Amino acid sequence: MIIIRKKLHGLFIWQLWNCCKHRNLIDIEVYDGKIHLNSERRSKMDTVFLKTGTDEKENKERIERAGQCLKQGGLVAFPTETVYGLGADALNEAAAEKIYAAKGRPSDNPLIVHIADIEAVKKIAMEFPEKAQKLAKDFWPGPLTMILKKTDIVPLGTTGGLETVAIRMPSHSLALQIIKAAGGYVAAPSANTSGRPSPTLAKHVLEDMNGRIDMIVDGGEVGIGIESTIVDMSVEPPMILRPGYITEEMLEKSIGEVTTDPALLFLPEEKAPKAPGMKYKHYAPKGELKIVEGSKELVVEAINNFVLNELENKRKVGIIATDETMNLYKGGIVKSIGSRKDDRTIAKNLYAVLREFDEIGAESIYSESFEGGSMGQAIMNRLLKAAAHRVIDAEQI
Ligand code: TXA
Ligand code: MG
Repeated sequence: MIIIRKKLHGLFIWQLWNCCKHRNLIDIEVYDGKIHLNSERRSKMDTVFLKTGTDEKENKERIERAGQCLKQGGLVAFPTETVYGLGADALNEAAAEKIYAAKGRPSDNPLIVHIADIEAVKKIAMEFPEKAQKLAKDFWPGPLTMILKKTDIVPLGTTGGLETVAIRMPSHSLALQIIKAAGGYVAAPSANTSGRPSPTLAKHVLEDMNGRIDMIVDGGEVGIGIESTIVDMSVEPPMILRPGYITEEMLEKSIGEVTTDPALLFLPEEKAPKAPGMKYKHYAPKGELKIVEGSKELVVEAINNFVLNELENKRKVGIIATDETMNLYKGGIVKSIGSRKDDRTIAKNLYAVLREFDEIGAESIYSESFEGGSMGQAIMNRLLKAAAHRVIDAEQI
């Protein structure tokens, strides 16, 4: 069944054709000018779950198996230092397109190509400008993605129809070994269902992807917990399209001036971001999340009042607190997300905490605000999206 709700233009016809080629595809819908793959009705498969451990020989066999599966056009989820990725052979259009079906991801949202060797850039990017080379030297392998002009070898099915390609060399040793075993070019978005929080544990991947992908490689908890910084190197000065662990300050120290996509400061409806994926509702927990900002005392007081009110109305309510404040709350289910003394702990726990509130069935969630620290921009970018930009100023109550 194909439902077409909008007039199709050239690019959409091309996308439609590519989607139809996908042999597992049973059902697609086209609306809002985009093609949506109906992942729910995709036929179920057995997902192999491979846990890596301390036995090097066994690990090697598992990595080899994952690599073979990717080479044959399969989908394999694996850990990176940021979040778990859902991998497919980036140079095999049909394989890369399976990712869209498994995630229920809109077809105009391009994938990041993961590499394990700097030489690989030359094969997939038309040019490797000096500044990009400098960033690679300073931050690769690591949580930085660079956008460059693509070569013909990279299918449009991987780049969502764009003439640029996003490239990242992760630092997680399992990721690097799997990429090598797969032939060197692995397209991998975060391994969550589109719109859900990114997975930081293999069990999160299993929750979202069981029966939809060939394999999950469990390598334990990831180190960073939010996705890589994306910087567009095809423009001058380079532009940050998604904030992450590598901050603007770190980038500027390496290559001089960089700008930030101004759309990141606006609501998605007000200004379209340059990274197509940044415009979609993301990371959303099932309960209604609200961020309360202001001084520590006022925020705690405001959240306590809101929670009291919710409890009177018999609603299940959660609080995202910090180590410093968790004992100050008087009701509701309180979870510490980490310590303000090191906001990397907050970044690392953010998605897991959102998923835990889903498991509990929280109908309302109140979160403190986390601006200011070195990870503040990246954390607030994700948290604001998760909260659909619902922010309450505690000073104004
Ligand atoms: O840390 C990460 O980057 C993780 C791990 C698995 O490596 N991957 C990840 O992928 O976050 P994903 O697909 O969830 O997010 C990729 C983002 C999307 O917002 C997408 O629109 C943007 O990168 N992107 C990819 N290619 C692009 C391009 N050529 N131009 C602009 N934005 C691009
Ligand atoms: Mg993602």
